[in-house]
Amino acid sequence: MDLRTIMIIGGTSGIGLDLARLLLSEGYRVVSVSRKGSIISESELLTAIQADFTLPGSSPDFFDGSLDGFVYCPGTIRLKPFHRLTDEDFLGDFTINVLGGVRAFRWALPALKRGHLPSVVFISTVAVTRGMPFHSSIAAAKGGLEGLTRSLAAELAPDIRVNAVAPSLTDTPLAERLLATPESRKQRADGHPLKRTGQPGDISAMIRFLLGPDSGWITGQIFHVDGGLSVI
Ligand SMILES: NC(=O)c1ccc[n+]([C@@H]2O[C@H](COP(=O)([O-])OP(=O)(O)OC[C@H]3O[C@@H](n4cnc5c(N)ncnc54)[C@H](OP(=O)(O)O)[C@@H]3O)[C@@H](O)[C@H]2O)c1
Repeated sequence: MDLRTIMIIGGTSGIGLDLARLLLSEGYRVVSVSRKGSIISESELLTAIQADFTLPGSSPDFFDGSLDGFVYCPGTIRLKPFHRLTDEDFLGDFTINVLGGVRAFRWALPALKRGHLPSVVFISTVAVTRGMPFHSSIAAAKGGLEGLTRSLAAELAPDIRVNAVAPSLTDTPLAERLLATPESRKQRADGHPLKRTGQPGDISAMIRFLLGPDSGWITGQIFHVDGGLSVI
């Protein structure tokens, strides 16, 4: 069988970058799409494409290969008390977390339909399952993404599987501000039943599982990779 080809929207930082490295090291082909375009490695298994899916009509040139997997990573951590959140904040979070995912997925779908046992993974957040103060905008957007995940899973079965991973706080550039001092790191780690915050590898390992054949009977699910925070 040919090498599997996985498209990562947002393979230049954080969880997406860790996933790109993991997949390349295992011999997958990776197509990374982001605003910066280029990344990490000189690998001949890597193709980089530049695009910003928050802009209407911004689809890059038609991708005419076939895809066996698709992962959408762009997202936000906009934490504010409800009374300070504006319409623009809510719309901004919806645009990058949901509409951007819709646009990117629409663009990739013809190539996924040509793929072998294709699998799609979106990234949600623990704050959808567990109510948290100051998270109303991001929780509303990611709740939409979880609904999108289940709807697409129903509509595209049995040909394409669609799942999501819902992390808690993970040590990436996006979360830098929340983990800026040793005190804040310790406090946030202690808030998790497993007494640490996430590493990108905790999340990318689950995504990799969902992309591969060992998860072949799983679709429409939201996987909580959160040190136990969502349920304990
Ligand atoms: N880190 C956490 O604590 C945490 C917790 C819960 C959920 N999550 C979710 O996990 C996902 C990944 O987060 P992360 O922490 O890995 O973020 P990150 O380090 O900021 O990486 C985000 C990636 O998305 C790309 N990107 C951002 N905006 C884009 C756009 N408009 N169009 C195309 N690409 C875009 C970025 O590349 P360019 O800059 O090149 O565009 C980058 O590669 C997000 O959906 C986030 O909400 C994260």
